[in-house]
Amino acid sequence: MKVLLTGAAGQLGHALRQQVPAGVELIATSRGGGDGLLALDLADASACRAMVQQHRPDWVLNSGAYTAVDKAESEPELAHAVNGGAPRAFAEALRDTSGRLLQVSTDFVFNGAQGHPYCPDQARDPLGVYGASKAAGEEAVEQLLSSSGRGVILRTSWVYGPVGRNFCGTMLRLHAQRAASGQPLAVVADQVGCPTSTLTLAAACWRAIERGGEQSGDLAPILHWCDAGAASWYDFAVAIGELGVERGVLEASALVQPITTADYPTPALRPSYSLLECTGTRLALALPPRHWRDALAEVISRVAAV
Ligand SMILES: NC(=O)c1ccc[n+]([C@@H]2O[C@H](COP(=O)([O-])OP(=O)(O)OC[C@H]3O[C@@H](n4cnc5c(N)ncnc54)[C@H](OP(=O)(O)O)[C@@H]3O)[C@@H](O)[C@H]2O)c1
Repeated sequence: MKVLLTGAAGQLGHALRQQVPAGVELIATSRGGGDGLLALDLADASACRAMVQQHRPDWVLNSGAYTAVDKAESEPELAHAVNGGAPRAFAEALRDTSGRLLQVSTDFVFNGAQGHPYCPDQARDPLGVYGASKAAGEEAVEQLLSSSGRGVILRTSWVYGPVGRNFCGTMLRLHAQRAASGQPLAVVADQVGCPTSTLTLAAACWRAIERGGEQSGDLAPILHWCDAGAASWYDFAVAIGELGVERGVLEASALVQPITTADYPTPALRPSYSLLECTGTRLALALPPRHWRDALAEVISRVAAV
């Protein structure tokens, strides 16, 4: 089976490349190419279509995205070209080649106002440009591929891993700095979601491809996949400090101070409660839930091993 992967240099792309299943021929791409990766600019729709036409993959695994949530507010055209235009271009080309698309998407397509977990079939209502651009990508996949069962959207949330820029890495650095200076670390406590490790997420993506290919139409068109449990950014920061010390990555952790979203204004609004209901996906993929704190311990152990 041939799989065209985008965003291969990103944090999820890295984990996906480490977990390539036997029998998969991977064509891995990044914006600039190099290091065994082909160059593919996701803002260039004709290049995306040409890549599919040339390689005729069984699947496109579209992990690449414009992920700078705050910067997207001032670069809406680019965010929409990458997050909306690339999935549309892939879907258009895959309609002709009869390939399939796994489109990685986000909890930010929801407004976070309902206060209980979101089911896959609920209406999108993004708060910011990033969420709107990812929602546009989802809509393109639905319009062009879902009726044939060849487009699958996999939404996830609060992604972090042992490599790449993410909340866990930032917090490990800040814990070390603030513990040394004796200053507390202020972290937002009134946004709730679920941290999701790239290691467990990559396994879910590969399983979705395996299942989606074997049993056409058996996978729902929208899957929700996150690690289990719920947390605020404050809870997540506290756990990163505790596990960082426990696993020997930190000598000491800083005191974490809970603050509100209003205390930490950002250019982009974020959903205040974005838990995703994942039960259906766990059953469909036959993957058991793993609590986010266990998944975090694994990631921090990997960081410790580097
Ligand atoms: N991170 C999260 O918290 C989160 C939460 C929910 C869903 N997701 C989704 O999960 C997927 C993986 O995200 P991630 O966390 O792995 O993000 P990431 O580490 O930022 O990786 C995204 C990759 O996409 C690449 N990219 C951006 N613009 C590009 C372009 N024009 N052409 C080619 N490549 C481009 C980036 O390359 P550069 O480094 O060169 O920009 C980067 O390597 C994305 O679809 C994202 O929307 C992420």
